[in-house]
Amino acid sequence: MRLPTLVALFSTLAQVRAGPCIAFDTNWNLLAFGLNGKDYNAGTSDKWASGSATNITSSGRPPFDGGNTRCYLAQFFNAIYVVDGDAANPNNLHIYDAGKKSWSTQSMTPNDFDPTSFEAILDHDTNLFYAISKGNLYSAEMAELTAAQSNAIPWTPQGAVEIDVSSPPVMSIAQNHIQFFGVPGSPAGSVPIFVIHFAFWQAGAQPMGDFPTTHGRATSLFLDSGVQQEMVFVPDDGSQTYIVNVESNTTQTMAGPSTKDADAFYFASINEIVQLASNGAVSWIPYSASDKSANSNAKWSSVANLASVAPPSSGGSPSGAGTSASGSAGGSKTTGGGAAATNKASNTASGTSPSGTGGAIRHTALGLGSALGLLGVAFSLL
Ligand SMILES: *[C@@H]1O[C@H](CO)[C@@H](O)[C@H](O)[C@H]1NC(C)=O
Repeated sequence: MRLPTLVALFSTLAQVRAGPCIAFDTNWNLLAFGLNGKDYNAGTSDKWASGSATNITSSGRPPFDGGNTRCYLAQFFNAIYVVDGDAANPNNLHIYDAGKKSWSTQSMTPNDFDPTSFEAILDHDTNLFYAISKGNLYSAEMAELTAAQSNAIPWTPQGAVEIDVSSPPVMSIAQNHIQFFGVPGSPAGSVPIFVIHFAFWQAGAQPMGDFPTTHGRATSLFLDSGVQQEMVFVPDDGSQTYIVNVESNTTQTMAGPSTKDADAFYFASINEIVQLASNGAVSWIPYSASDKSANSNAKWSSVANLASVAPPSSGGSPSGAGTSASGSAGGSKTTGGGAAATNKASNTASGTSPSGTGGAIRHTALGLGSALGLLGVAFSLL
């Protein structure tokens, strides 16, 4: 068996991950979508320690069964944009109007953008998406949308990226600059930058403090108004939580999440950083822009009012798929190297496209056992 086939198998495994996501609304209520097939409003952080999050599941929502589902907050419009929320219709973007609590479906013209294999940020001020898919940069103009418009919105190609994407890029927005973590060849503590307003790739990498050049997840810290100035970076090993300030170009180090999960996602407000683990567990750590000693002593804890209504074991499984949540989590850990290889493949031009096989397999009853069995076969044939 050839290596590409093996990579495809790993790709299949990683695609088994389900599609819940988390986001804050403009009033800093924590919203969790697609946890055991339902959506919840956990309220502001003073409500998280006890009680029950409010079920906000309503019609028009996507099924949250994508392999790469991501949620973004348009802060000025109190709207959440969901990319890859519907595996059967990956070119649909879903808009949740958090004020009206209503959903609508926006069609997107892909222009080769692969919604099942991308990394993106939503620019705070222009409400433009910038995304990397298969080695190319794309933008998409969300205007002031809190509900879908009738015309499709194009993912507009902006040319090949000017950074090494042989390791999947990790994008983060602050000060209308896109910072890229984990870019091979960047010195530790340095990030290449794309300047949005001038559509310009800054030469070299900007030193911003002390963090490793490694794959991880990033998200931005918001402010009540005004442009974002700080980003959160958590390496795949979850060893630390780094806060990178793009004004002073310095880094604070906070505790790594209690759940070490390379497949976790993060979303931050002003004073909270939240982790959604791949088994659906949601936890958080408080953050203060003005109190560094509080940050260095801060601890992660569970968002208990979500756990009480959506216990973690239920979170990772797309409705109707055969894989259990614990299976997905275990699977990605067992095959850590493979998952990394998959990410790499799916974000580079030369990589295997997961759209066909991954999507199909997600909707069959292929359990983790069978997937691991296939891997065993693959190894024995090597
Ligand atoms: C921080 O980095 C940005 C981006 O390269 C740069 O424009 C800015 O001048 C730097 N700030 C300081 C204080 O070095």
